[in-house]
Amino acid sequence: MDEKTLFEKLPASLQGRVQSLTARDGRVTVVADVAGMDAIAREQLEAALKDVLGAAEGVAEVRVAMVAERTTRQIIAVGSGKGGVGKSTLTANLAVALARTGRKVGIVDADIYGPSQPKILRNEGKRPQAEGNKLIPVPSEWGVPVLSMGHLIEPGKAIAWRGPMAGNALRQLVDADWGEAELLLVDLPPGTGDVQLTMLQNFKPAGAVIVSTPQDLALIDAARAMQLFEAGGVPILGMVENMSGYECPHCHEVSDPFGQGGVEAAAGERQLPFLGRIPLAMSIRSSGDSGQPPAAGEGHEAECFAAIAQAMMAALDRQGS
Ligand SMILES: Nc1ncnc2c1ncn2[C@@H]1O[C@H](COP(=O)(O)OP(=O)(O)O)[C@@H](O)[C@H]1O
Ligand SMILES: [Mg+2]
Repeated sequence: MDEKTLFEKLPASLQGRVQSLTARDGRVTVVADVAGMDAIAREQLEAALKDVLGAAEGVAEVRVAMVAERTTRQIIAVGSGKGGVGKSTLTANLAVALARTGRKVGIVDADIYGPSQPKILRNEGKRPQAEGNKLIPVPSEWGVPVLSMGHLIEPGKAIAWRGPMAGNALRQLVDADWGEAELLLVDLPPGTGDVQLTMLQNFKPAGAVIVSTPQDLALIDAARAMQLFEAGGVPILGMVENMSGYECPHCHEVSDPFGQGGVEAAAGERQLPFLGRIPLAMSIRSSGDSGQPPAAGEGHEAECFAAIAQAMMAALDRQGS
């Protein structure tokens, strides 16, 4: 029996789930789209496919491969050249700002060496459930589900990942059951190591956002991170300047501990969008410790994050068009 005839034997409800069907020497292989189905529904689908196709003339074996890839989900990598520049803070607050505008967004904390999203988003200590061999992201009260190595290891335990293990860990987090999330923001470790390479090879991001402080040295490191994305064919959606200018809470005088404007200038030189700046603010640091992202509140910081989120989505739309 040929492939077309076999496909037509299936009821419409099953046909809609079939991505491909190949038949060779009595062996039929079906790739089924199981997006949005739970474990029981998946089992039923597999059994039904095997029943119908297995009963067809000349079929000795039916193999069913299930995929839940939703091609509409886009990954945005948030990277920096070095640590401590506010990558995790930015990732969390961008996600919260996007969720406030109704986007379905999840966070992968890929900084497996120093995971910080569970703390920033206050869902520390919760364990992700698993369904089949897929992890289910941990919800947070800000409407943004998160998966982090911090959810999988015991708090306070150091991890000494070697290259391939780091890649596998990342795979588990990205390849989880992200449900209806249309966007995944990935908080990368600093620099250009194994996690970044696995990311580029296996889950090519639709774009990358680069965060840096205005300092020259941070900018040189940021340039290296950008080169890696560019070499991997990942468009840089733009650059963000963090810790840009400090307003004294007492006298309101503005000073520039790390300078100001350096990132905008660097973006300009590369003809990349400058997505915006975030001031150095006590409230931002303390919000990271208390697990209350400023983007969920009101005021200047919330507005900064909302504006950057909007600029980032605009840059993403331009890439897609
Ligand atoms: N704009 C800011 N103002 C004040 N503190 C900040 C700001 N951005 C980040 N921080 C703080 O700096 C530290 C490092 O930020 P983090 O986001 O963890 O950086 P990274 O992920 O790049 O290592 C954290 O304690 C965080 O709260
Ligand atoms: Mg971090």
